[in-house]
Amino acid sequence: MKVLGLSFGRKMKCGEIMVKEALFKAKEAGADVRFINTVDMNIQHCKGCGACSAARDRGKEVKCIIKDDYEILEQAVLDADAIVIAAPVYAIAPVGQFKNFIDRFGPSRDRAALLAEQDKRKKEGKPLLDERNFKDRYVGYISVGGASTQNWVSLGLPSMHIFGFSLKMKVVGQVDAYDQGRKANPLFDEELMKQVGELGKRVTEAVGKPYDEVEWFGEEGTCTVCHNNLITVGKSTTVECPVCGIKGKLSIVDDEIKVEFSEKEQKRARNTDIGLQEHYEEIQGMIEVCVPKLMAAKDTLPKMLEKYKNFEEEINK
Ligand SMILES: Cc1cc2nc3c(=O)[nH]c(=O)nc-3n(C[C@H](O)[C@H](O)[C@H](O)COP(=O)(O)O)c2cc1C
Repeated sequence: MKVLGLSFGRKMKCGEIMVKEALFKAKEAGADVRFINTVDMNIQHCKGCGACSAARDRGKEVKCIIKDDYEILEQAVLDADAIVIAAPVYAIAPVGQFKNFIDRFGPSRDRAALLAEQDKRKKEGKPLLDERNFKDRYVGYISVGGASTQNWVSLGLPSMHIFGFSLKMKVVGQVDAYDQGRKANPLFDEELMKQVGELGKRVTEAVGKPYDEVEWFGEEGTCTVCHNNLITVGKSTTVECPVCGIKGKLSIVDDEIKVEFSEKEQKRARNTDIGLQEHYEEIQGMIEVCVPKLMAAKDTLPKMLEKYKNFEEEINK
Protein backbone atom coordinates (compact mmCIF):
# COMPACT_ATOMS: atom_id res chain seq x y z
CA MET A 1 0.00 0.00 0.00
CA LYS A 2 1.51 3.31 -1.12
CA VAL A 3 0.99 6.50 0.85
CA LEU A 4 2.18 9.74 -0.71
CA GLY A 5 2.86 12.88 1.33
CA LEU A 6 2.89 16.24 -0.46
CA SER A 7 3.79 19.60 0.97
CA PHE A 8 3.24 22.73 -1.08
CA GLY A 9 4.94 24.84 1.61
CA ARG A 10 8.55 25.75 2.34
CA LYS A 11 11.24 23.15 2.92
CA MET A 12 11.44 21.93 6.52
CA LYS A 13 8.73 24.37 7.59
CA CYS A 14 5.26 23.74 9.02
CA GLY A 15 3.53 21.82 6.21
CA GLU A 16 6.53 19.62 5.48
CA ILE A 17 7.00 18.71 9.16
CA MET A 18 3.32 17.86 9.58
CA VAL A 19 3.14 15.73 6.42
CA LYS A 20 6.31 13.88 7.45
CA GLU A 21 4.72 13.17 10.84
CA ALA A 22 1.67 11.78 9.04
CA LEU A 23 4.01 9.57 6.97
CA PHE A 24 5.82 8.27 10.07
CA LYS A 25 2.44 7.06 11.36
CA ALA A 26 1.44 5.75 7.94
CA LYS A 27 4.62 3.67 7.87
CA GLU A 28 3.88 2.33 11.35
CA ALA A 29 0.45 1.31 10.01
CA GLY A 30 2.11 -0.70 7.24
CA ALA A 31 2.42 1.71 4.31
CA ASP A 32 5.25 2.26 1.84
CA VAL A 33 5.68 6.01 2.01
CA ARG A 34 7.01 8.68 -0.31
CA PHE A 35 7.38 12.41 0.38
CA ILE A 36 7.57 15.26 -2.14
CA ASN A 37 8.03 18.94 -1.39
CA THR A 38 6.80 20.88 -4.40
CA VAL A 39 8.14 24.32 -3.55
CA ASP A 40 11.00 24.31 -6.08
CA MET A 41 9.00 22.51 -8.76
CA ASN A 42 8.04 24.29 -11.93
CA ILE A 43 4.28 23.75 -12.27
CA GLN A 44 2.93 26.20 -14.79
CA HIS A 45 -0.72 27.13 -14.98
CA CYS A 46 -3.17 25.44 -17.35
CA LYS A 47 -3.32 27.29 -20.66
CA GLY A 48 -6.76 25.88 -21.50
CA CYS A 49 -5.55 24.27 -24.75
CA GLY A 50 -7.70 21.15 -24.24
CA ALA A 51 -4.96 18.82 -25.55
CA CYS A 52 -5.26 16.49 -22.53
CA SER A 53 -8.97 15.76 -22.93
CA ALA A 54 -8.67 15.73 -26.73
CA ALA A 55 -6.00 13.01 -26.41
CA ARG A 56 -8.32 11.05 -24.10
CA ASP A 57 -11.22 11.28 -26.54
CA ARG A 58 -9.05 10.35 -29.54
CA GLY A 59 -7.86 6.99 -28.25
CA LYS A 60 -4.58 8.22 -26.72
CA GLU A 61 -3.34 8.40 -23.12
CA VAL A 62 -4.18 11.54 -21.15
CA LYS A 63 -1.15 13.83 -21.24
CA CYS A 64 -0.52 17.51 -20.61
CA ILE A 65 1.60 19.06 -23.35
CA ILE A 66 3.31 21.65 -21.12
CA LYS A 67 6.87 20.53 -20.44
CA ASP A 68 7.60 21.11 -16.76
CA ASP A 69 7.52 19.23 -13.45
CA TYR A 70 3.75 18.62 -13.48
CA GLU A 71 4.13 15.05 -14.74
CA ILE A 72 6.32 14.08 -11.76
CA LEU A 73 3.51 15.01 -9.38
CA GLU A 74 0.78 13.63 -11.61
CA GLN A 75 2.46 10.21 -11.77
CA ALA A 76 3.11 10.22 -8.00
CA VAL A 77 -0.59 10.90 -7.35
CA LEU A 78 -1.70 8.19 -9.79
CA ASP A 79 0.70 5.69 -8.18
CA ALA A 80 -0.57 6.37 -4.66
CA ASP A 81 -3.31 4.50 -2.82
CA ALA A 82 -3.60 7.26 -0.23
CA ILE A 83 -2.33 10.83 -0.05
CA VAL A 84 -1.75 13.39 2.70
CA ILE A 85 -1.39 16.95 1.47
CA ALA A 86 -0.38 20.13 3.25
CA ALA A 87 -0.89 23.45 1.51
CA PRO A 88 -0.09 26.80 3.04
CA VAL A 89 -2.75 29.47 3.00
CA TYR A 90 -1.65 32.45 0.95
CA ALA A 91 -4.22 35.25 0.83
CA ILE A 92 -6.97 33.24 2.58
CA ALA A 93 -6.85 30.29 0.15
CA PRO A 94 -4.32 27.54 -0.70
CA VAL A 95 -1.12 28.66 -2.41
CA GLY A 96 -1.35 29.15 -6.19
CA GLN A 97 1.01 26.29 -7.06
CA PHE A 98 -1.49 23.86 -5.52
CA LYS A 99 -4.28 25.33 -7.64
CA ASN A 100 -2.02 25.21 -10.72
CA PHE A 101 -1.67 21.49 -10.17
CA ILE A 102 -5.41 20.97 -9.64
CA ASP A 103 -6.35 22.97 -12.75
CA ARG A 104 -4.23 20.62 -14.86
CA PHE A 105 -4.97 17.40 -13.01
CA GLY A 106 -8.72 17.75 -12.33
CA PRO A 107 -10.29 18.35 -15.73
CA SER A 108 -7.99 15.89 -17.51
CA ARG A 109 -8.73 13.19 -14.91
CA ASP A 110 -12.49 13.55 -14.80
CA ARG A 111 -13.63 10.06 -13.74
CA ALA A 112 -16.98 10.19 -15.57
CA ALA A 113 -15.34 11.19 -18.87
CA LEU A 114 -12.61 8.58 -18.39
CA LEU A 115 -15.20 5.87 -17.68
CA ALA A 116 -17.21 6.77 -20.79
CA GLU A 117 -14.03 6.67 -22.88
CA GLN A 118 -12.91 3.38 -21.31
CA ASP A 119 -16.28 1.76 -22.10
CA LYS A 120 -16.03 2.98 -25.69
CA ARG A 121 -12.50 1.57 -26.03
CA LYS A 122 -13.56 -1.77 -24.56
CA LYS A 123 -16.40 -2.03 -27.10
CA GLU A 124 -14.12 -1.05 -29.99
CA GLY A 125 -11.25 -3.28 -28.79
CA LYS A 126 -8.88 -0.28 -28.64
CA PRO A 127 -5.93 0.17 -26.21
CA LEU A 128 -7.34 0.97 -22.79
CA LEU A 129 -6.71 3.97 -20.56
CA ASP A 130 -4.37 3.66 -17.58
CA GLU A 131 -6.13 1.53 -14.91
CA ARG A 132 -4.76 3.83 -12.19
CA ASN A 133 -7.50 6.29 -13.23
CA PHE A 134 -10.14 3.95 -11.87
CA LYS A 135 -8.82 2.80 -8.52
CA ASP A 136 -10.20 4.02 -5.21
CA ARG A 137 -7.96 6.54 -3.50
CA TYR A 138 -8.05 8.09 -0.03
CA VAL A 139 -6.90 11.56 0.94
CA GLY A 140 -6.30 13.70 4.03
CA TYR A 141 -5.90 17.49 3.93
CA ILE A 142 -3.83 19.79 6.14
CA SER A 143 -4.31 23.50 5.65
CA VAL A 144 -1.43 25.55 7.10
CA GLY A 145 -1.95 29.17 8.10
CA GLY A 146 0.17 31.76 9.85
CA ALA A 147 -2.63 33.95 11.17
CA SER A 148 -3.91 33.46 14.68
CA THR A 149 -7.57 33.50 13.68
CA GLN A 150 -9.47 30.98 11.60
CA ASN A 151 -11.13 33.74 9.57
CA TRP A 152 -7.80 34.35 7.79
CA VAL A 153 -7.73 30.76 6.53
CA SER A 154 -11.43 30.49 5.68
CA LEU A 155 -10.96 29.22 2.10
CA GLY A 156 -8.02 26.95 2.95
CA LEU A 157 -9.54 23.54 3.74
CA PRO A 158 -12.69 23.96 1.63
CA SER A 159 -10.58 24.75 -1.46
CA MET A 160 -8.25 21.83 -0.81
CA HIS A 161 -11.17 19.46 -1.46
CA ILE A 162 -11.07 20.40 -5.16
CA PHE A 163 -7.93 18.26 -5.42
CA GLY A 164 -9.72 14.92 -5.06
CA PHE A 165 -13.06 15.53 -6.79
CA SER A 166 -12.28 14.51 -10.33
CA LEU A 167 -10.85 11.09 -9.44
CA LYS A 168 -13.56 10.58 -6.80
CA MET A 169 -11.08 10.33 -3.94
CA LYS A 170 -12.49 9.65 -0.50
CA VAL A 171 -11.64 12.41 1.97
CA VAL A 172 -10.74 10.61 5.19
CA GLY A 173 -10.18 13.70 7.30
CA GLN A 174 -8.68 17.15 7.61
CA VAL A 175 -6.70 19.34 9.98
CA ASP A 176 -6.94 23.13 10.04
CA ALA A 177 -3.42 24.02 11.21
CA TYR A 178 -3.78 27.80 11.48
CA ASP A 179 -1.98 30.00 14.03
CA GLN A 180 1.47 28.76 13.00
CA GLY A 181 2.91 32.27 13.34
CA ARG A 182 2.58 32.35 17.11
CA LYS A 183 3.45 28.67 17.46
CA ALA A 184 6.86 29.20 15.85
CA ASN A 185 7.10 25.48 15.02
CA PRO A 186 4.40 22.78 14.84
CA LEU A 187 6.67 20.55 16.95
CA PHE A 188 5.88 22.79 19.93
CA ASP A 189 2.20 21.78 19.61
CA GLU A 190 1.87 18.20 20.78
CA GLU A 191 -1.88 18.03 20.14
CA LEU A 192 -1.46 19.23 16.54
CA MET A 193 1.33 16.71 15.89
CA LYS A 194 -0.92 13.98 17.29
CA GLN A 195 -3.73 15.05 14.96
CA VAL A 196 -1.60 15.02 11.80
CA GLY A 197 -0.05 11.69 12.84
CA GLU A 198 -3.55 10.27 13.31
CA LEU A 199 -4.52 11.59 9.87
CA GLY A 200 -1.60 9.63 8.37
CA LYS A 201 -2.70 6.49 10.20
CA ARG A 202 -6.35 6.94 9.19
CA VAL A 203 -5.67 7.38 5.46
CA THR A 204 -3.49 4.25 5.56
CA GLU A 205 -6.11 2.19 7.37
CA ALA A 206 -8.80 3.43 4.99
CA VAL A 207 -7.13 1.92 1.90
CA GLY A 208 -9.32 -0.80 0.42
CA LYS A 209 -12.39 0.04 2.53
CA PRO A 210 -15.72 0.82 0.84
CA TYR A 211 -16.06 4.60 0.98
CA ASP A 212 -19.16 4.56 3.19
CA GLU A 213 -17.33 2.54 5.82
CA VAL A 214 -14.57 5.12 6.26
CA GLU A 215 -15.03 7.06 9.47
CA TRP A 216 -14.50 10.83 9.23
CA PHE A 217 -11.50 12.28 11.09
CA GLY A 218 -11.83 15.94 12.04
CA GLU A 219 -14.44 18.45 13.09
CA GLU A 220 -17.96 17.60 11.94
CA GLY A 221 -18.72 20.90 10.14
CA THR A 222 -22.03 22.08 8.70
CA CYS A 223 -21.95 20.02 5.50
CA THR A 224 -22.50 16.35 6.21
CA VAL A 225 -20.53 15.35 3.11
CA CYS A 226 -17.35 17.48 3.12
CA HIS A 227 -17.59 18.54 6.79
CA ASN A 228 -16.68 22.14 5.98
CA ASN A 229 -18.52 25.18 7.30
CA LEU A 230 -18.83 27.10 4.05
CA ILE A 231 -22.46 27.58 3.06
CA THR A 232 -23.90 29.75 0.28
CA VAL A 233 -26.96 31.59 1.52
CA GLY A 234 -29.44 33.35 -0.76
CA LYS A 235 -32.80 34.80 0.14
CA SER A 236 -34.58 31.54 0.93
CA THR A 237 -33.81 28.83 3.48
CA THR A 238 -32.57 26.59 0.68
CA VAL A 239 -28.80 26.90 0.92
CA GLU A 240 -25.89 25.25 -0.86
CA CYS A 241 -22.57 23.73 0.08
CA PRO A 242 -20.24 25.34 -2.49
CA VAL A 243 -17.66 22.58 -1.97
CA CYS A 244 -20.01 19.67 -2.72
CA GLY A 245 -22.50 21.55 -4.92
CA ILE A 246 -25.48 20.18 -2.99
CA LYS A 247 -28.57 21.90 -1.67
CA GLY A 248 -29.77 21.79 1.93
CA LYS A 249 -32.51 23.24 4.11
CA LEU A 250 -31.42 25.77 6.71
CA SER A 251 -33.21 26.15 10.02
CA ILE A 252 -32.49 27.85 13.31
CA VAL A 253 -33.23 25.72 16.35
CA ASP A 254 -32.54 27.14 19.82
CA ASP A 255 -30.39 29.86 18.29
CA GLU A 256 -28.28 27.27 16.44
CA ILE A 257 -28.05 27.01 12.69
CA LYS A 258 -28.74 23.60 11.22
CA VAL A 259 -28.53 22.58 7.58
CA GLU A 260 -30.11 19.34 6.49
CA PHE A 261 -28.99 17.73 3.28
CA SER A 262 -31.34 15.00 2.02
CA GLU A 263 -29.91 11.55 1.21
CA LYS A 264 -30.59 12.26 -2.46
CA GLU A 265 -28.56 15.49 -2.40
CA GLN A 266 -25.71 13.88 -0.46
CA LYS A 267 -25.52 11.17 -3.10
CA ARG A 268 -25.05 13.76 -5.86
CA ALA A 269 -22.14 15.61 -4.23
CA ARG A 270 -19.32 16.52 -6.61
CA ASN A 271 -17.06 13.65 -5.55
CA THR A 272 -19.62 10.90 -6.17
CA ASP A 273 -20.33 8.89 -9.33
CA ILE A 274 -23.71 10.62 -9.64
CA GLY A 275 -22.23 14.10 -9.17
CA LEU A 276 -19.44 13.49 -11.66
CA GLN A 277 -21.84 11.96 -14.19
CA GLU A 278 -24.17 14.98 -13.84
CA HIS A 279 -21.32 17.33 -14.68
CA TYR A 280 -20.15 15.13 -17.56
CA GLU A 281 -23.65 15.16 -19.06
CA GLU A 282 -23.85 18.92 -18.58
CA ILE A 283 -20.62 19.32 -20.59
CA GLN A 284 -21.86 16.95 -23.31
CA GLY A 285 -25.11 18.94 -23.46
CA MET A 286 -23.10 22.16 -23.75
CA ILE A 287 -21.20 20.78 -26.74
CA GLU A 288 -24.46 19.75 -28.43
CA VAL A 289 -25.80 23.31 -28.12
CA CYS A 290 -22.60 25.16 -28.91
CA VAL A 291 -21.36 23.28 -32.01
CA PRO A 292 -24.49 23.84 -34.17
CA LYS A 293 -24.43 27.54 -33.18
CA LEU A 294 -20.84 27.88 -34.37
CA MET A 295 -21.56 25.95 -37.57
CA ALA A 296 -24.53 28.20 -38.38
CA ALA A 297 -22.39 31.31 -37.83
CA LYS A 298 -19.27 30.09 -39.64
CA ASP A 299 -19.44 32.98 -42.16
CA THR A 300 -20.76 35.75 -39.92
CA LEU A 301 -18.74 35.15 -36.73
CA PRO A 302 -15.28 35.87 -38.28
CA LYS A 303 -16.61 39.27 -39.42
CA MET A 304 -18.06 39.99 -35.95
CA LEU A 305 -14.68 39.12 -34.42
CA GLU A 306 -12.64 41.50 -36.62
CA LYS A 307 -13.16 44.48 -34.29
CA TYR A 308 -11.86 42.49 -31.31
CA LYS A 309 -8.92 41.01 -33.18
CA ASN A 310 -7.80 44.48 -34.24
CA PHE A 311 -8.46 45.93 -30.80
CA GLU A 312 -5.48 48.34 -30.67
CA GLU A 313 -6.33 49.82 -34.06
CA GLU A 314 -10.05 50.03 -33.34
CA ILE A 315 -9.73 51.58 -29.88
CA ASN A 316 -7.45 54.32 -31.18
CA LYS A 317 -9.65 55.28 -34.14
C1 LIG B 1 2.31 35.58 0.40
C2 LIG B 1 1.82 35.01 1.67
C3 LIG B 1 0.49 35.14 2.02
C4 LIG B 1 0.01 34.61 3.21
N1 LIG B 1 -1.32 34.73 3.49
C5 LIG B 1 -1.81 34.19 4.63
C6 LIG B 1 -3.21 34.27 4.94
O1 LIG B 1 -4.02 34.83 4.20
N2 LIG B 1 -3.63 33.68 6.08
C7 LIG B 1 -2.79 33.04 6.94
O2 LIG B 1 -3.25 32.53 7.96
N3 LIG B 1 -1.47 32.93 6.66
C8 LIG B 1 -0.96 33.48 5.53
N4 LIG B 1 0.39 33.37 5.24
C9 LIG B 1 1.28 32.63 6.17
C10 LIG B 1 1.52 31.18 5.77
O3 LIG B 1 0.32 30.47 5.62
C11 LIG B 1 2.39 30.49 6.83
O4 LIG B 1 3.66 31.11 6.83
C12 LIG B 1 2.54 28.99 6.68
O5 LIG B 1 3.25 28.50 7.79
C13 LIG B 1 3.27 28.61 5.41
O6 LIG B 1 3.39 27.21 5.31
P1 LIG B 1 4.83 26.46 5.41
O7 LIG B 1 5.34 26.80 6.78
O8 LIG B 1 4.53 25.03 5.23
O9 LIG B 1 5.67 27.05 4.32
C14 LIG B 1 0.90 33.90 4.07
C15 LIG B 1 2.24 33.78 3.71
C16 LIG B 1 2.70 34.30 2.54
C17 LIG B 1 4.16 34.12 2.17
